[in-house]
Amino acid sequence: MFNPVKIKEGLYWAGAIDWNLRAFHGFTYSTHNGTTYNSYLLIDDKVALIDGVGAHFFNEWRQRVSRVIDPGEIDYFICNHAEPDHSGAIPEMMKLMPKAKIVANQRAKDALLKQYCSYWDFQIVKTGDTLNLGKKALRFIEAPMIHWPDSMFDYLEDDGILFSNDAFGQHYASTERFDDELGLDLIMNENAKYYANILWPLSPVILKKLDEIKKMNIAIKMILTSHGLSWRTYPQEAIESYLRFARGDSAKKVIIAYDTMYYSTEKMALSILEGILSQGIEARLYRLPVSDMGDIIKDLLYARGLLIGSSVVNNNILPGVEKFLFELKGLHPLNKTASFFGSYGWMKDIAAKSTEETLKDAGIKVALPSLNIKYAPDADELKQCFEFGQKFALEVKKD
Ligand code: FEO
Repeated sequence: MFNPVKIKEGLYWAGAIDWNLRAFHGFTYSTHNGTTYNSYLLIDDKVALIDGVGAHFFNEWRQRVSRVIDPGEIDYFICNHAEPDHSGAIPEMMKLMPKAKIVANQRAKDALLKQYCSYWDFQIVKTGDTLNLGKKALRFIEAPMIHWPDSMFDYLEDDGILFSNDAFGQHYASTERFDDELGLDLIMNENAKYYANILWPLSPVILKKLDEIKKMNIAIKMILTSHGLSWRTYPQEAIESYLRFARGDSAKKVIIAYDTMYYSTEKMALSILEGILSQGIEARLYRLPVSDMGDIIKDLLYARGLLIGSSVVNNNILPGVEKFLFELKGLHPLNKTASFFGSYGWMKDIAAKSTEETLKDAGIKVALPSLNIKYAPDADELKQCFEFGQKFALEVKKD
């Protein structure tokens, strides 16, 4: 149990597998498949332990590390990110590593001290600094806001290995450690969900950092992540996917996200769907309260169009729709086109107005005037819904 995995001579995975995690970031991101907290041991003349695990996984981490080397022999603990999923077990592990210095940037040091009130020996590094381990050396690349201000990558010279911490990770628990062991489709799907639910609002920073790394002209032969599977066969595909996500590239596809009180808004949604499909545009329908928010957000990453539907209740949109809009406001998705539809009783524009304001706050273009239908749609009004779908499809088709 808790065996480490040898990646190559002198390099081991020694992290922890969280099989049962079902939600991340305060239940905003559903993790149907659990996650891993990846930690790596680099054995050279000096020994470095790279990244940690959450507090509840200390025992698993300790056992994996100890099966490679006595923790007392570790010279450096490299902290690339102080968020508790990677740092929670550090205080306990540091007790077993009396000679280890914590190598971190100043922001990570501040975050560790604030969270754990401990007094460790730190070696502060910044972009361009290197840590010589004997035959091998690590070069540090600060990556603030990918995902916290303290985030940092490490590059193992000669081997061409990038330790990317959160970047390029996925929340996926498995006994396999690499992309080629479970296939590109699976890892790309989880990679997209992770990007959409965690990194989407940080896209401008990511684009800049990827450009900076490209200009460094370093060979990236392998990306070792801090969550899920690592990229030993498809590292370039991982980088290309982040470039597409960060640029806001998407397909001419529509997500219809709605909720309904007496099924009038749902009837509208179904006619709109038919209208969109009639224009040869792919579309997918989600009733929000019974759908998984994290999965919808992932699908939206790939779709250019978004239609929001809601009945009016108490002069407002339905709570499930409001929750979704709240998420969108935080995620600030790029290059999306949206519009609103819904049924109402006596307050015609109220749901449309509040939705459109939130969409604009989220940086989303509102393409068509809203379609509001009193009580239940009759045959003529269902035709209007179909035509609304057609018009929206034409908006999505625009370059
Ligand atoms: Fe996996 Fe930002 O922590």
